[in-house]
Parts: sequence; C-alpha cells; structure tokens
Amino acid sequence: MITEKETTKEMVRTYLVTGGAGFIGSNYIHYMFRKYGDQIRIINVDALTYAGNPENLKEVEERENYTFIKADICDKDAIRAIFQQNEIDRVVHFAAESHVDRSIRNPEVFVQTNVYGTAVMLNCAKEAWEQPDGSFAEGKKFLHVSTDEVYGSLEEDGGYFYETTPYAPHSPYSASKASSDFLVKSYIDTYHFPANITNCSNNYGPYQFPEKLIPLMINNALQGKSLPVYGDGKNVRDWLYVDDHAKAIDLVQEKGRLGETYNIGGHNEKQNIEIIHTIIETLLEMLPKEDERRKLVSKDLITYVEDRKGHDRRYAIAPDKIRAEIGWEPETMFKDGIKKTIAWYFAHEQWMENVTSGDYQKYYEEMYKGN
Ligand code: NAD
Ligand code: DAU
Repeated sequence: MITEKETTKEMVRTYLVTGGAGFIGSNYIHYMFRKYGDQIRIINVDALTYAGNPENLKEVEERENYTFIKADICDKDAIRAIFQQNEIDRVVHFAAESHVDRSIRNPEVFVQTNVYGTAVMLNCAKEAWEQPDGSFAEGKKFLHVSTDEVYGSLEEDGGYFYETTPYAPHSPYSASKASSDFLVKSYIDTYHFPANITNCSNNYGPYQFPEKLIPLMINNALQGKSLPVYGDGKNVRDWLYVDDHAKAIDLVQEKGRLGETYNIGGHNEKQNIEIIHTIIETLLEMLPKEDERRKLVSKDLITYVEDRKGHDRRYAIAPDKIRAEIGWEPETMFKDGIKKTIAWYFAHEQWMENVTSGDYQKYYEEMYKGN
C-alpha cells in the first residue's frame, strides 16, 4: 500500500504530518524543508477532502525525503500500518475539518474527523511508541494543532485568551476541536504521553482555500462579485501570517516543555470590515494601471448579509507564554503579510481557478444564496 522513497542519510528525523495538503499543513511542510533541507524526512498523510490539494506540494513532491500517503485519519488500519512500516519520531497533527460555516451546516463530519480521527492518531502513536514499562521512547513527540476558538468569545473591549482560560466553544467546529484537545490532555495525564497542544489564532497566507474570509474577499473583489460581510462586520479576529505559525509549531517541538499547551497569536486584532477595506485598497495599489480588473475592485461591492449563527464576537491571543519560554515572536507585520498574500494569489490564478471549479460553486451558491 505504501510507496516510499527511503532517504539514505543516517539519523534523519521522520515527521508524520497529517493534513499536509491543506492550507497550514502545506505551508508548514514548505517551511520545514526550507529550514532543514535533507536533515528531515516528512511523510504527509492526507485524505484529500475538498480542502486538500496536492498542487500545494508540487514543489516538494520529487524530493527523496518526502512521501505522500492518501489515507483517512479515521482509518485505524491504515494509520497503524504507517507507524509499523516507518520509524516515526514526530507527529504534527493538522488534519481536521476546519471551516466554521460548514460545521454549522453539517456538524457530524467534524465530530468524526476532528474527534475520532484524533483518537486514532493518538492511539496509533501510543501503540508504536510505548515501551514495555509504560514509558515512551526518547525523542518521540506528538503535536496537536488546535485553535483559539476553543476558548469561546471575548468582550469587544477587553481580555485575552491565556492557556489557563476555561474552554467555552460555541460552534460545532470549535466544540469538536475542544474535544480533541481534551483527548490529547487525557493522554498526557493518563499515560504521560509525550505531546503538546498549540492553540493558534486566525492564519492567512498562500494556499488558503477561498471559503475563508481573506482569500474569499480577494477572489470576489477581483471578479467584481459582492463581498459578503456577516452581521455588522465588527467581529474581531487576531490575524497571523501562516509562516509565523509554522515557525511556532517547529519551535514548540524543539524547545517546548512536553505536556504543555502554548497559545500562538500576534496581537494583531482587526475587525472584519477593516480587513475588507485593507484588501480593496491593497488590490488597487498592487494591480497594474492597465489591468482591466481595476475597474471591478470597489468598496461598492461590500454587502452586509445575515450573520453567522452563534458568531463569536472577538478572539485575541496572549502569546506571553510562548514568548517567555520559547522566544517565539511573530515576524510578519499585517501590512506586509497581506501584500505577500495578494501577490501570491496574483501569481497563482490557475490555482484559484482549479479550486473554485466544481464543488466550490455549489457550496458558494448554497452558503451565500445569491448574495
Ligand atoms: P484546511 O481545511 O485547509 O486543511 C485540512 C487538511 O486536512 C486538508 O488537506 C484535508 O484534506 C485534510 N483532512 C481532512 N479530513 C481528513 C481526514 N479524515 N483524514 C486525513 N486528512 C484529512 O485546514 P487549515 O486551515 O490548514 O487548518 C489546519 C489545522 O489547523 C486544523 O486542525 C485547524 O483546526 C487548525 N487551525 C487553523 C487555523 C486557521 O486559521 N486556518 C487557526 C488555528 C488552528
Ligand atoms: O481562530 C482560528 C480559526 O480561524 C480557525 O480555527 C479556523 O479553522 C479558521 O477557519 C478561522 O475561523 P473563523 O471563523 O474566524 O474564520 P473565517 O475566515 O471563516 O471568518 C473570519 C471572520 O470573517 C468571521 O468573523 C466571519 C467573517 N466572515 C467570513 C466569511 C467567510 C464574513 O464576514 N464573511 C464571509 O464570507
């Protein structure tokens, strides 16, 4: 079942990345190869749902030290076989259903993938790594990638999410991620399983699927389509450039204390409507004078639509712990990150065309009902 490209280097650490064909997973894989080159080996396990796209990894697929395996994390036999056939040192678990609006329309798949799938990953790693005396082999580490949404919603005028903030998820998505976090915590407490959890704020950057705010607004604006703003547009998110998240994940595995949770965020809070105005202004600044699309991009496209059900008002991370213990700081300012992101979408029109053909049209029509 598994086709492998064995690397000949000795002492090469092997990462099992789940969900590596999605937005953050693919950026993480690119980041890791840029940083470590041939010193690591990555096995990417992804079911290639609507959100998983092998095109995101075209540039690395020929590498000797990269292997792609199409498998569902809920398929215990397939995941167990991967652990049996490979000496896995690190797991970085991204695979999940990730879109809040989809979770409101169809919660069950979120429970299946995010909760049951995480249970399978934990159990297969435990089975492979546990020694006869119940301890775990030196150097084995599992990192569970989670979200700030598990902490619920903050008031507009104050407060931050700390690692000690009680969980209060509201959407089926965040409830399923909270459940998966609790499973990881239970493995840490019960078995001293060598794991970390990271809870990160909203990411943006290359390869993000255009169901999410920033790529959806870029894509719609360039086509002169309406820009659907939920509610009053004043909900606040704390935006982080995806490479900064990838770097934080790597540093947590390198320097973090096992068993700990680390919040990741950039003190970059913005209202949704502010983000949309910035996108329009940046598009107009970056589009060449002769580009026909300049005529389409306009603030008049902004359309207020029905609010998201149970819409969390504000998220804001306090990254004090990761900064103090690990020395991580976000490096990309939003004004630069948004330009890099827009430049990437300009250079990857075909990517956008490919991901928005077919099923995406159906999703968009059902979700936005003519807006
Ligand atoms: P994404 O939806 O872009 O990618 C998810 C990936 O998981 C896809 O490649 C998909 O094919 C794969 N996948 C889904 N179900 C699977 C299954 N059953 N088996 C194997 N693979 C499966 O998601 P993303 O935005 O890259 O998020 C990645 C992770 O980071 C998620 O766990 C998410 O909760 C978390 N997170 C995301 C953000 C954000 O802003 N996007 C912020 C914080 C945390
Ligand atoms: O906070 C981290 C989370 O960020 C991740 O865990 C999720 O996987 C990720 O999807 C993201 O969740 P959000 O719901 O915050 O992101 P989204 O891009 O869907 O929406 C951002 C904000 O923009 C939110 O307040 C809803 C609003 N919005 C979104 C869309 C798609 C609109 O106003 N219009 C839209 O069309």
